[in-house]
Amino acid sequence: MLSFANKLLTWYDQHGRKDLPWQQPRSPYQVWISEIMLQQTQVATVIPYFQRFMQSFPTVSALAEATTDHVLQHWSGLGYYARGRNLHKAAQFIVDELHGEFPTTRDAWQALPGIGRSTAAAICAQAFNLPEAILDGNVKRVLARYHAVEGWPGDKAVENKLWIHAEKYVPQARVADYTQALMDLGAVVCRRSKPQCTACPLQKSCIANKENLTSDLPHRKPRKALPIKTTNMLVLCLKDNRVLLEKRPPVGIWGGLWSFPESQDRESLAKYCQQNFAVAVKSTKSLASFRHTFSHFHLDITPILLHIDTKPKQIMDSDSYLWYNLNEPANFGLAAPMQKILQDLENNIHDTYDSMSEITD
Ligand code: ADE
Ligand code: SF4
Repeated sequence: MLSFANKLLTWYDQHGRKDLPWQQPRSPYQVWISEIMLQQTQVATVIPYFQRFMQSFPTVSALAEATTDHVLQHWSGLGYYARGRNLHKAAQFIVDELHGEFPTTRDAWQALPGIGRSTAAAICAQAFNLPEAILDGNVKRVLARYHAVEGWPGDKAVENKLWIHAEKYVPQARVADYTQALMDLGAVVCRRSKPQCTACPLQKSCIANKENLTSDLPHRKPRKALPIKTTNMLVLCLKDNRVLLEKRPPVGIWGGLWSFPESQDRESLAKYCQQNFAVAVKSTKSLASFRHTFSHFHLDITPILLHIDTKPKQIMDSDSYLWYNLNEPANFGLAAPMQKILQDLENNIHDTYDSMSEITD
């Protein structure tokens, strides 16, 4: 059986990219510049930038002597300008401190600004054929699937497992081609969505493929626990089954939609209703609380049914208030939680009236 590396190399010979501008030749300078450009940008976008960059700064000393502005001008459109700034600083370090000689070990590359372990390894593997393992986003995806590694690859413990897998497959020969093959496979075949497993040289031993896990792996970043807010929604209800709705301000949650009045204070609701709506509350009943989840918080809602006798005039006339009859269709904008409360009320209106408690104050 062919080894992991041999399968990839055979695939690379048939399908891999061999005519990328930084492969002609795979000089340390070209490989280094391309790896920095490729950190957050796709190959097709990088190619013309790389070519213009090489025209303007053909050597590390030309780059070191250039002004930062001139370097960043070449970065315009690639984004992440810190990459361009660090690249310029690294060029000056190589010229000033290393006599213009490129580092030749992963550790020495990693000591330069803006170069992490995987980038340093990618440079050493491609420029010097050193047996160093890479682990960028694409490679993490391939290995997480191939070994069915659970957990989010951004998590240190998960990343460490992936590094161990990445290290054990690095061949002793043709490291440059192997490294390019792994990156190409991740980009072209083992894509995030709809990986082309039938075209993949690793298919036979890939656990995600065997167990139909490719759409689950790698696992996504776990969501942070959302904060929980609470509110009471006041359902002011007349004897004829009308409830008070108020129009929310145009901005904020449920902007412009009709809603029940809200109150944070559970204690003096009768007083609150008297003051705000000029109504006398006869009895109250807390209904079942439920949770509504927004992207940034949970809202635990307790509807409170407040039985009132008379419909106050000033609220009737306002554009921002509406007495809605529970038996009629709601032909106005209501946020989902209000629809739920109204639905529950319509279903239970008789039960709720029977069990309401008398207000004594
Ligand atoms: N991403 C980072 N380095 C790359 C390379 N050499 N080829 C394709 N994608 C890459
Ligand atoms: Fe990725 Fe499919 Fe290949 Fe497995 S078989 S490594 S999931 S492309």
